[in-house]
Amino acid sequence: MSRLIIVSNRVQPPADTAPANQGGLAVALASALREHDGIWCGWSGETTDVFTGDIRMQTAAGVTTATIDLEEQDVEEYYNGFANRTLWPLLHHRTDLAEHEREFAGGYERVNQRFADIFAPLIEGDDLVWVHDYHLFPLGRDLRQLGVRNRIGFFLHTPWPPTQLLLSLPSHRTLVESLFDYDLIGFQTEEWLNNFEHYLSTELGLEPNADGEYRLGERSFRVLACPIGIDGEEFAELSRSPAARYSRYRMKQSATGRDLIVGVDRLDYSKGLEERFLGYERFLANNPEQHSEVFLLQIAPPSRGEVESYQAIRSTLDALSGRINGNYADIDWVPIRYVNQGYPRAKLAGIYRAAKIGLVTPLRDGMNLVAKEYVAAQDPEDPGVLILSRFAGAAAQLKDAVLVNPYSSDDIADGISQALTMRRGERTARWEAMMHNVTTENVAWWLRRFTDALEKRPTTR
Ligand code: F6P
Repeated sequence: MSRLIIVSNRVQPPADTAPANQGGLAVALASALREHDGIWCGWSGETTDVFTGDIRMQTAAGVTTATIDLEEQDVEEYYNGFANRTLWPLLHHRTDLAEHEREFAGGYERVNQRFADIFAPLIEGDDLVWVHDYHLFPLGRDLRQLGVRNRIGFFLHTPWPPTQLLLSLPSHRTLVESLFDYDLIGFQTEEWLNNFEHYLSTELGLEPNADGEYRLGERSFRVLACPIGIDGEEFAELSRSPAARYSRYRMKQSATGRDLIVGVDRLDYSKGLEERFLGYERFLANNPEQHSEVFLLQIAPPSRGEVESYQAIRSTLDALSGRINGNYADIDWVPIRYVNQGYPRAKLAGIYRAAKIGLVTPLRDGMNLVAKEYVAAQDPEDPGVLILSRFAGAAAQLKDAVLVNPYSSDDIADGISQALTMRRGERTARWEAMMHNVTTENVAWWLRRFTDALEKRPTTR
């Protein structure tokens, strides 16, 4: 088996005690590398006054990582700038929030070049190189320019937007053309893949050849829809661990017989938290008999707090949760417990198991692994109900969730009512179908499908 050199912006070695606020990518890559020999390369999350390019190599829990520090200006222009002020909103269909500044694009190019310069020397022999996510679109091109001839794959964890939205990015063509230095490009769903192919067809006039390749001059790639998974069995086991049982017990005790609805998301406007609160408020307005009978626990660790749109969503949610609690709370009941911190995975697993409903309603999401974790953590004898946005990539696999339109307060409110009154037989049947998917199309399956397809690519570079 070839070694795997993974490159992503953020590198987080696995640690069950670390707060689970890093998003699905880090969790998935850590489990992928536990099974595969290789190195996980990226930014340490730290800054330095002057860029030195010194690599910090570490091995923890069977995963070797290689990280570098970046300068403040790099973080400002590349991470807070082009990645999270320009690309993230655009990829999540929020062209209204996307900012287009020349210095962001310049910083993005500079940091990608730095990653290439520093990590290229770690690549050996027949290593497979696997680049992850929107922070690093041009990295394949930069590695090729340094003479890397290994197979290089790219996986996008976010959605790929419809062509008409992508055209609002001034550098859309350069960005897409740079992708031809990869051998394989993976997307979470057929929908994001179709959007990408639509761009190739309408903007570049390209169709796949008889071998299923898209070719631009000498360079070609194949494309693949390959949904990321979790280690469903490991998470189910975690939900039965002593730490999770204790967390479930504490949760049940504090719930005092009320039904728990849980949401766990990075504090991000794409997660539909404002709309979720409004949907829950509508549910409370429509169902006075349910007051004091249920509560929503929303866990939302802050994320990307230097970006204005993230500060704005935080204030909005502070105000909205305050308003709903102010309007509906009683002396012995608070309808929303809104918590801005992350929790260790075992604790979360226990909370998921205690919850009657998992409420996962992003406005747009590449996949959403919280939905899969909620399913994996359920008690098979008496499972809870997953309410899932039809706009999450996970909805293509978890078809037995209660699927809702997250923009509609009525839809969310109706979904909550339906889930609360659902009989055990239906809950179990839906859960079994979803659990089957979570444990078969798991993280090992995702890793194998992508790396097998990458290994099949010819080495003609
Ligand atoms: O899954 C999308 C993603 O942007 C990952 O690339 C990232 O690791 C995660 O969300 C968390 O975001 P951030 O690293 O910006 O905190």
